[in-house]
Amino acid sequence: MTVIGTGYLGAVHAACMAEIGHEVLGVDVDELKIAALAEGRPPFFEPGLADLLARTHAGGRLRFSTSLREAAEFGEVHFVCVGTPQRSGSFAADLSHIDAVVDGLGPHLSEPCLVVGKSTVPVGTAARLAGRVADLAPAGDAAELAWNPEFLREGTAVRDTLEPDRLVVGTGSARADAMLREVYAPMIEAGTPYLVTDLATAELVKVAANSFLATKISYVNAMAEICEATGADVTRLAEAIGLDDRIGSRFLSAGLGFGGGCLPKDIRAFLARGEELGVERSLRFLREVDEINMRCRQRTVDAARDLVGGSFLGKRIAVLGAAFKPDSDDIRDSPALNVAAVIKLQGAHITVHDEEAVDNARAAFPHLDYALEPAKACEGADAVLHLTEWRQYRELDPARLAAVTRTPRLLDARNALDLPHWRNAGWTVRALGRPAA
Ligand code: UDX
Repeated sequence: MTVIGTGYLGAVHAACMAEIGHEVLGVDVDELKIAALAEGRPPFFEPGLADLLARTHAGGRLRFSTSLREAAEFGEVHFVCVGTPQRSGSFAADLSHIDAVVDGLGPHLSEPCLVVGKSTVPVGTAARLAGRVADLAPAGDAAELAWNPEFLREGTAVRDTLEPDRLVVGTGSARADAMLREVYAPMIEAGTPYLVTDLATAELVKVAANSFLATKISYVNAMAEICEATGADVTRLAEAIGLDDRIGSRFLSAGLGFGGGCLPKDIRAFLARGEELGVERSLRFLREVDEINMRCRQRTVDAARDLVGGSFLGKRIAVLGAAFKPDSDDIRDSPALNVAAVIKLQGAHITVHDEEAVDNARAAFPHLDYALEPAKACEGADAVLHLTEWRQYRELDPARLAAVTRTPRLLDARNALDLPHWRNAGWTVRALGRPAA
């Protein structure tokens, strides 16, 4: 099989497919990325991926290339895993990468084969691409297209791929269904639910799931706003409502809200597609979900400003965390860096620490300062902002850290630190959605 597009999704998918015994060719237009992968080096941080690449590489089951012609000659199944980012100046998804893959691959598809879309796309894209594949493939009905959305989370991507909650396959073809059952045989044998749907449902499953998750996070963050207005504690509220099985406690952590390469752009692309389809009323609530989420960033900036006495001018602020979430070096739409950049604009001096994302952060936000140790970032700080909940920060010694700051003031915008512990070490502590003391 081939895996076209070797970003967070494709690189993990390629390595996992090789791990379960398939012969895999990974393909990307980015020569640097392909060169790194060909040497067994992941081009980004993802726990477990380096080991998997080394193993599958050594086993000879995983190779890389930049040629779509080679891909067409090599594979019976072609997984398309390229990005569908937010289009500039619009909420809609940019489908230029996925269109380019289908247009580049299609004319070379001479043997019977299956093109499988995994990228997140606006509903209706798969049907359009299925027509395109049929038109382009020289041997008429040799090539067909199915849709198989991916639900992996960065940070647990390897496990999510090898042990998925479910497999969803959009196809009307018995041949495509049989091929994908063969591809995923180890997972199906292990009891993973395998759902076959039409193309549109498969596309929608992905955006509906991401919209639901985003809504859950914004719901609890709206409750955090109510808690702030009433002196209640959102972490206890979430704990209590989460014990109801029907609600569940996962994705109910209040704080700085969601970012990353998926949830924000997926709900916006869904809104844009809803408008095109004339069903915008059904999705209008996602506008509110997005607004609540963006407000989390503003509330964090406001809480930090209050903490340092009402103005950032001339203040030194330490920022713990740059990645959009822990166990990732991904800074796409990172709430942490968004907050850091806004505070910088308001006159503060910012020093950012992150275990894995410093290089990416520095490239995107060169005007911020960076430190390789949390204590270095906190040297002389007027306040410390905890913006991405890396485990490392839960293990910090608040007493030792207090000694290097100018004033030991902490804002926990992820509700992940042991606040009494910090208070006992002399820190003035604030947290989003929780009372001041
Ligand atoms: C998400 C979906 O979870 C995954 O199924 C899909 O395939 C891709 O998009 P990912 O973007 O890797 O995955 O991250 P996720 O773990 O969902 O977190 C997204 C954001 O929500 C992060 O910024 C995280 O910090 C935030 N979040 C998550 C919260 O603010 N509160 C929570 O309770 C959970």
